[in-house]
Amino acid sequence: MLLLFLVASTNNVHVTAFTPSITSSTRSRVVVLHHCDGHEPTLTGRDRRSRFDSYAPFTDDGRVGFYGEIGRSDGRIQPCHHDEVSAAPQPQLPTSGSSSSVTAITLAAPPPKRYGIGSWKKSSDSPSSSSSTTTLPALHRRPIVAGNWKLNPSTRGEAITLLKLLAANFINHRNDNNNYGLASSTLPEVVIFPPLPYLSDAIQILAGSGIQVGAQTAGPNEKGAYTGEIAPSMLVSSGVSHILLGHSERRTLFGETNEYINMVLRKCLDIPSVKVILCIGESLSEYENGLLETVIDEQLRGCLANVDAKYLLSDRIILAYEPVWAIGTGLTATPSQAQYAHEVIRASLAKYYGSEEVASAVRIQYGGSVTPESMEALMSERDVDGALVGGASLNADSFTRIFDVAVLVANKKKQATAPLPRELVAMEVLPTKNALGESPIWSDRDQALYWVSATEGEVWRWNLIDPPYRRVMNTAVGCIGLRSRIDHALVIAAESAILTTTMASSAANGILSDFASGPRFLAHRPDHMSTTRPNDGRVDRYGNFVVGMYNQYHRAGATEGANNAGLYRLNARTLRWEMILDETYKFRVSNCICFSGDGTKMYFGDTPTRKVYVFDYSPDGPLRNRRLVWTMPPSMSGAPDGAQVDAGGKLWIAITGGRKVVQLDPGSGVVECIVHVGDANPTSLTFGGRDLDELFITTRASPNGGGIWRVKMPYGVRGLPEPEFQA
Ligand code: PGA
Repeated sequence: MLLLFLVASTNNVHVTAFTPSITSSTRSRVVVLHHCDGHEPTLTGRDRRSRFDSYAPFTDDGRVGFYGEIGRSDGRIQPCHHDEVSAAPQPQLPTSGSSSSVTAITLAAPPPKRYGIGSWKKSSDSPSSSSSTTTLPALHRRPIVAGNWKLNPSTRGEAITLLKLLAANFINHRNDNNNYGLASSTLPEVVIFPPLPYLSDAIQILAGSGIQVGAQTAGPNEKGAYTGEIAPSMLVSSGVSHILLGHSERRTLFGETNEYINMVLRKCLDIPSVKVILCIGESLSEYENGLLETVIDEQLRGCLANVDAKYLLSDRIILAYEPVWAIGTGLTATPSQAQYAHEVIRASLAKYYGSEEVASAVRIQYGGSVTPESMEALMSERDVDGALVGGASLNADSFTRIFDVAVLVANKKKQATAPLPRELVAMEVLPTKNALGESPIWSDRDQALYWVSATEGEVWRWNLIDPPYRRVMNTAVGCIGLRSRIDHALVIAAESAILTTTMASSAANGILSDFASGPRFLAHRPDHMSTTRPNDGRVDRYGNFVVGMYNQYHRAGATEGANNAGLYRLNARTLRWEMILDETYKFRVSNCICFSGDGTKMYFGDTPTRKVYVFDYSPDGPLRNRRLVWTMPPSMSGAPDGAQVDAGGKLWIAITGGRKVVQLDPGSGVVECIVHVGDANPTSLTFGGRDLDELFITTRASPNGGGIWRVKMPYGVRGLPEPEFQA
């Protein structure tokens, strides 16, 4: 399918777009052709920046053209002839009189995921490619953001303007007063690579801004009769701090081989202090043929031949992984693809040098159509240490935004690796000795806390002032919800049926057993199997009751088929059950069921897996788009049980068997707070109290729990009102 994605006008260039017939094997590419009759295209500002960065100029029949093309199996670019232009399918172009246009077309879909050799992550386990993202840690490597200007901009005047804009953006970024709370070892390093003639301007203008200046290439010779060549020593003695080597455009357009790159690299390393960014990456056809691992390995072995490990350990060599199919094409690798390739690189280094230390020390940037929008998810990956930016580095604003995102992610990584910032201690406020306290909910209407003792079949109520009291249900109870319009009324997911009852008055013995006021039958329970019973659940933000089941046999191990538990919603309007989780997804102990404030996300965890997921939630359909929010670290004992979302969108999870509650940032997966629950075993929690700023925690009897524990939240943290079942 042809997809027209960029249309712009310029003044004096006639430009057209086409599909060249030269690469029939190429399945995914972006092509831009500019041709004008006998004069240079003079494109201005954004047009050039957005499209020219990775395209090669050529002259053909007096025309000047620029095009970029990826994934060619022979690794060479061919000039396009005029007849190819006219022979090729023509997309609809705006052709108004003498005005001209630039068009880029994208063909076909992004390449398939072919990286898998066992460790390819399931897409459902990978962070969504949207801005919210999960996988973090590893900040022992300093992030690095680099801008590769390639053959841009066309004039020194434009370069100076861009340099001044960058200097102005960065001048305050990393002096001692403004390091974003990051140590210099974790504050992202910034380098730009302008074309050679602009290097001295760059060094001068960027002095004091924190941006370092690098050269896009160098030759292997030091001096002598090599017309047009540039020696690394010349660059370094002119103030250049970094040298870029092995960029795919150097390899494909100028025939640089691994051996040649190795020669230059070793020359560079002879000069103390200069750092090399060594680019590697596979082409589209290699990618499509599953050759990623082989290509990476070959490139590393070739380029690093006779290069001592000390240069990698001392950060003299930085790697940039740039899948050729992603360069200048707008096709960014997904975060999981980038992470996988970076893991492959580290594995290859570990093998080559026989040292995990080398593999773990070396910084690896990702490059290929990086934008401010894609940066966060990419850099949140454990092994992605920054970005090598082409097109987006030609705009001071977007390059600065990419840097800002790097700072943000560095801070998240720091937080994720740093000791936890906040620890709280909860107190037992009610020694109820429940066998299995569960499902606490706070009623704003009643100003009371309700919860159940699941196996004893009791429902409890406490207004925080008078002694609590309970109703005995004579059936095991999974969870409860508030009912709308009726004071003190609850909906109860019991083992036998869905019941409703009021909890209006107290009896002298503290036990409400007057069945005159309930419980009443409301609906059959879902999942009519003796092997399951209702477990965790909550009323969703639309007033329906979501109930997850518990597989009685789960302790015997994972089971298949009928013994697995389901996830259901009792529609408040129809009082019918809707199965909201595809039957193909098996789980054993439903837990962590709670909803984002806007009702569009539902959290869920299958306790034995020690993982918490989030789904897109709508009251009219099933759960969709499962994303992993958190995997409990091996160092943390226990497993996720009941959970609740606070008003700031953070997730609070009771860790059963772990004697604690954690507060989790579901965006980053970072545990931001731990609440210690004495030696009791927490099961679930909710926010309550007049200001919803108290966390109430239910516990189970063994070993020493069964009471209600409470902790006042730090300033600013509060819960959301519990929704009511609208039947
Ligand atoms: P791009 O270039 O960001 O324009 O894709 C990256 C590079 O070639 O380094």
